[in-house]
Formats: sequence, C-alpha cells, structure tokens
Amino acid sequence: MSRPVRIALFSHKGGVGKTTLTANIAFALAQSGKSVLLVDSDPQCNLTSYLLSDDVVDELLNNANKPNGQTIWSAVRPVFDNVGVGRFVEPIMAADVALLPGDIRLSEFEEFLGDAWADSFKRRLGALLATSSISDMVTRLSREQGFDFVFYDTGPNIGPLNRVLLLDSDYFIVPVACDLFSVRALGTLGQTIKKWILDARTIASIAPDSAACLRATPAFLGYVPQRFKVYGQTMTKEANFYLRRIESRMGSDISAVLRSIDRRLAPARSANPVLGEISDIASLVQRAQREGVPIWRCSGSDRQAKVATEESFGKIAACLVEKSQSLVSDRTETSEE
Ligand SMILES: Nc1ncnc2c1ncn2[C@@H]1O[C@H](COP(=O)(O)OP(=O)(O)O)[C@@H](O)[C@H]1O
Ligand SMILES: [Mg+2]
Repeated sequence: MSRPVRIALFSHKGGVGKTTLTANIAFALAQSGKSVLLVDSDPQCNLTSYLLSDDVVDELLNNANKPNGQTIWSAVRPVFDNVGVGRFVEPIMAADVALLPGDIRLSEFEEFLGDAWADSFKRRLGALLATSSISDMVTRLSREQGFDFVFYDTGPNIGPLNRVLLLDSDYFIVPVACDLFSVRALGTLGQTIKKWILDARTIASIAPDSAACLRATPAFLGYVPQRFKVYGQTMTKEANFYLRRIESRMGSDISAVLRSIDRRLAPARSANPVLGEISDIASLVQRAQREGVPIWRCSGSDRQAKVATEESFGKIAACLVEKSQSLVSDRTETSEE
C-alpha cells in the first residue's frame, strides 16, 4: 500500500484556525472520496473535542491508561515506558473521517521527546526509536486501514512534539490571521523549520544503520488566510494591507529560506502559494463545533454562508490534492538554489 500524504497545519501562533482548518479540510477531502486520518497531536485535544461529544472525550481520557485505551497516549505509552514500540489503536470514525483522539498526557510525552532528540545526537537507538514513534504509529495505522491523507493537528509552539510531527510530514500548510502578529511570526517559522531539517540531517548522517530516522523533508504546500472581515463582497482594507505583507513574507521568510537548503522544499519565491481563504464566519464555526459536523453542515438558516463555506473548503481541498501531486513529481529535481 502506498504511503499516505502526511500534512501538518503549522504555526506557533495560537488561535489562527489550525484546528478548524484541519478538520474542515479533512471533511472536504472525505466528501470528495478521499480517506483521511486525523491525528490529534495537540495536548489541548481541541480537534477531539470538536469531533466527539464531551462524554465520549471524558471516557476516552479516563480509559487511556487501560489496556483497551484508545487515545494517542495509549498508542505511544509503551515507548514512553521503555517497554517496546507503540501500540496499535483503532481510530474512531467521526463525520466520515478517522480520528486518533488526542490526550492531555501528550505533554509528558513531549518532554520525553525533547530528551530523545538530544540523545539522538549521541546515536542512542532507544532515542531514535522514540523520535520516530509517532511516525511509526501512523505507518502501521495506514498499513492496516489505507489512508490517502494523514493530518497532524499541531499545538501553538515550536517544541519537541511539533518538531517530530513536522519532520514526519510530506507537506506543511501555514494558516494566518491578517494582522501584524502573523506577519512577524513568519520569520521565526521559516528559520525554525530550516534548523529542524538541518539537525535531523545531522542525526540521520551519524545514526546507526539499523535506526529508522524521520524523513525530514517537509515541503511548504501553501498558506490559508482566515478569519478576516468582509464588507460587501470584499476583504476590509486593514485585512488586505496585512495580507499583502503576508504574501511577500511567505516568499522571503518561508520559501526562500527552505529553498536555500533544498529547492524541492518550497515553490519559487515569486509564486504566491495561497491555497484558498476563509473569512470570519464565527457563528457558523461555533455551531459546527457544538454539533461536531463540517461548518457547511451545521444547523441554522444561513444557507448562503454555508454554501460559500463549502465551496471555499472544496477549493482548498482540490488545490491541496493538485499541489501535493505536482510537488511530489517536482521532488525528482535535486539541485539547490
Ligand atoms: N473562519 C473563522 N471565523 C471565525 N472564527 C473562527 C474561524 N476559524 C476559527 N475560528 C475561531 O477561532 C478560534 C481559534 O480557532 P482554532 O481553530 O482553535 O485555532 P488554533 O488551532 O490555531 O488555535 C476558535 O475559537 C474558533 O472557533
Ligand atoms: Mg488548535
């Protein structure tokens, strides 16, 4: 079975719509016939709370340490306890996508991953195994269930957990708010991902032959401006001002930085890799959260807004499928810029 495309929506900024976009892009892909696994890899478990009802989430968290535990923590715990490889955990179907539920205890695993990363530079096999444990778990799940796409929902930081998720991803997508803080965050984002890739290359170059290492080739698939205000049919002047700056910084702070180490990791700096955009639709998003459904399937009478939202997510999903295929073929190219 071929490897599914692994994607992380990533920004160390909180509240930029990572979880909302991850879920709804997955729903749109599922609607177009793709099979999708959502990995709730943020200890805040927001993605899990979106897809499952409160009592189911509580039960999952209460049972996570039992032999039949079903969260991401239940899966990686044997690695944390140093007693073996990750355990197979059956994902839960919700709104036509498979979900590996999140767990607050993943923050403990994150500390462990931080130590494992440092020990990977000392060529320790156990540390290398821990570093690739989430990746291995997804590989095993995909082998069993055959997914087209796997999405990692990431927390708002540049910590050890997000590092392994990004380094296991084939692509990353950057959600942005149209404001000054999002503009400023892009510099850190590009430099951080570059450093992670270079460190992972060092680790792979000195690792014992028997060790499995993370691929460390996350390519920049594009960005999604979201939650901007619209008057009439158009974006407000303020949002548009910041969006122009974001567009230019995507080229200089992300594409150019990644292409300086490997040109296959980002489209040319001159390209504008916008995947689509989602305006401020607060009440629809809140209703969809309450009902655990795609935004365009929530209850309520605002049909026009729902149709427009379904179209926007459909376009993002189609663009993602097309770009991930064309970038895969571009990856045969090797030289640096
Ligand atoms: N398009 C949108 N319009 C209005 N509110 C949104 C939109 N997308 C997300 N939100 C709200 O913004 C907040 C942050 O979104 P979330 O997806 O949790 O971001 P992150 O995962 O980056 O922290 C949530 O309260 C969510 O309800
Ligand atoms: Mg989130």
